[in-house]
Amino acid sequence: MLEMLSEHGRRAGVMTDRRGDEAEHSTTRRGILKAAGAASAGAAAATLLSTGAVAEPTDPSQGGSVPGEFRTDDYDAFPQSVGSGGPTPSGAIVWTRLDEELAAFTNGQLYLQVAADGTDGDATNADADFTDARTFTVPTAGRDEGATALAAAQDHTVRVDLDGELDPDTYYFYRFVYETGGDAPSTASPVGRLHTMPAPDASVDDVRLAVSSCNNYLHGYYGAFAHIAEEDADYHVSLGDFLYEYAGGGQQPGRDIELPSGKNVTHTLADYRHLHRTYRSDDHLQAAMERHTLIHTWDDHEIINNRWWVGDAETGFPDTRSHPFGGDPERMRRLYARGIKAMLEYLPLRVAYEDPYEADEPVEESSARQYFRLYRSFKFGDLAELFMTDERLYRSPPPKDDDDPTAASGRDLAPPSPERNQADLDRTMLGTEQYRWFLDGGTNPGSMPDTDGVTGTDATWKLHGNEVLCAALKAANAGVDGLYLNYDAWDGYEAERNLVMGRLARDEVDNYVTLTGDMHSYVAGYLKQDYKDPEQSEYVGGPRVGVEFMTPGISSNNLASAGGLPANATEDAIDEAVQTQNPHIEWFNSSRWGYTTVHISDGSLTYTAYDVDRSVDAADAPKTLLRSYRVPEGRYELQAVRSPTLDGTIGDRVAASFAGGTANDGPDVATGAGPVDGTVDAVTGDEGDDSSGGNGGSDDDGSASSADGTDSDPDDTGSSTTGSDGDGSGIPDHIEDAFERGL
Ligand SMILES: [Fe+2]
Repeated sequence: MLEMLSEHGRRAGVMTDRRGDEAEHSTTRRGILKAAGAASAGAAAATLLSTGAVAEPTDPSQGGSVPGEFRTDDYDAFPQSVGSGGPTPSGAIVWTRLDEELAAFTNGQLYLQVAADGTDGDATNADADFTDARTFTVPTAGRDEGATALAAAQDHTVRVDLDGELDPDTYYFYRFVYETGGDAPSTASPVGRLHTMPAPDASVDDVRLAVSSCNNYLHGYYGAFAHIAEEDADYHVSLGDFLYEYAGGGQQPGRDIELPSGKNVTHTLADYRHLHRTYRSDDHLQAAMERHTLIHTWDDHEIINNRWWVGDAETGFPDTRSHPFGGDPERMRRLYARGIKAMLEYLPLRVAYEDPYEADEPVEESSARQYFRLYRSFKFGDLAELFMTDERLYRSPPPKDDDDPTAASGRDLAPPSPERNQADLDRTMLGTEQYRWFLDGGTNPGSMPDTDGVTGTDATWKLHGNEVLCAALKAANAGVDGLYLNYDAWDGYEAERNLVMGRLARDEVDNYVTLTGDMHSYVAGYLKQDYKDPEQSEYVGGPRVGVEFMTPGISSNNLASAGGLPANATEDAIDEAVQTQNPHIEWFNSSRWGYTTVHISDGSLTYTAYDVDRSVDAADAPKTLLRSYRVPEGRYELQAVRSPTLDGTIGDRVAASFAGGTANDGPDVATGAGPVDGTVDAVTGDEGDDSSGGNGGSDDDGSASSADGTDSDPDDTGSSTTGSDGDGSGIPDHIEDAFERGL
């Protein structure tokens, strides 16, 4: 089996080869399952391998039966609990990780039990009944030659792919059972729940998504995840920054992180794994992962802050200015390989991936673009299709500051010129292949159904799972273009944005909604063909071509806590100021934390934004229903279902976001987490190295003795009220600083 995997790895090359391999394996696996089913009437016994590839059939006498007795209360054996993700119409990937000492038992055997929930999602995980469960045997390294599950090479993580095994649009409960084969008692994992996708052509009338992003462990507690676990959601959509690549002292008690390398920012595979283990040790994040099936895309911090790609797929390399390896192609490639490997070990994602550590080509010469593809789409029958894009692996470097050509993330203040215009046109966010896939369709990884793209899909709602703000965000809407705040977002890739928005307009794409993370803020606004000052353009932005909803950070510092907003201003005043310069934005708030939900039913899409107190480490951390907007089918119109006054000051909000802090005279927002069924109270609208890949050791101490890649100062709870502009950029220094620290 080991040889088989290696062979598979050596076939690394173009994606079509990989997909071919996967299809072949899938067929073979089903053959094994059929044989296993025939051999054991009743519970279908099957053997699956953690990577989803084929396992050799096990002896029927040892397959498919959990131990007669096992503990169901020793969750320490599964220190990161369980999770599911990568749903298809016939399955999902389920995940767990075994305690290292238990995994070392040479006679250990791992089983997976799967039982239909029988209530269409209403039953709690505690209600799970495994009496008639199907049992699968997961090969373990000790017992089955060649099996990789539980192996140190995967940091004892296990990913079992149930694709092809389950019914569409159905909830299931699952748990792992580990038979130690030694003195230690056998034990079961916590119970997880998964939800398969509807068939692509199914008639679906209701989809509920819980949406999250930006989970900085150092900055806050995860009460928001505990509330997500309680949401009546079909799936959990995560829009990036699942973790942050750096160590440091926590802003809240008990949230410190030290990396195995001893550095401040990730250098080794062991560093990335340590971060995943630490983040996933949190009970509230575990609860969300246990309850909902994950659909995730990364942003920059899964690897490194503010990153992009230089050159083409074959010879190009990733780069950043936020890590000591920046500018060193070989080290950056190795860093990517480590970060991607750890992410795929720990998150149940259905993507195309060929482990570069198993390929003949040295990792430092491997292009992540060749062995990894993250973008893919999820079709919720005829109601919606969610396009999860990758805005980090294919993007060009951001625009340069003409005054300082080495400042890769600088502001482009130069007036338009032929050179600048050409540079704008050459810059891409999605890359050619993904751009075409997004607009016109193409394949999805593995057995996922192909897509017709946002312009061709027959789904009513076109959802874009988008990492960085798509709509313009200007500090000043004057001059030819105005002055943008953040060139790391689509504002730095304006020409491509205009092309995408132009296609949406030309093809009259309706019901297009962008769901965005990254900025640790709440935004509701309209997408336009351009955002020029009406005084400067006879075009005046053209018609609305979509709607954008941003989900806030679960816990990561926002503009307010990073000192980017004046402490004595009210939240509503900030909102108003942003809208003045950005008339396409209906709501902006960057002084709270939480999550959002998206509910599509009855001819409309409803976005609901929650505030959850990040300073309280409890499942019942205070939660506030903050705002809600409804978008009617067929019309780009944000209808405010709920929009209470937020007249507390930014300073109070910041003070309250740290454990022990309090909000003096905080904003009076009605609390409650009930369903949003209120009538529309206002209809608003504006004008319109570890090269072995094995055990996480370090083969590279990094040339820099101390990483400088941290992108925020944990001690900085600043609340500057000054508006000084030392570099004459036109943007107050404290706001520039907040963005440059890389939200
Ligand atoms: Fe973030």
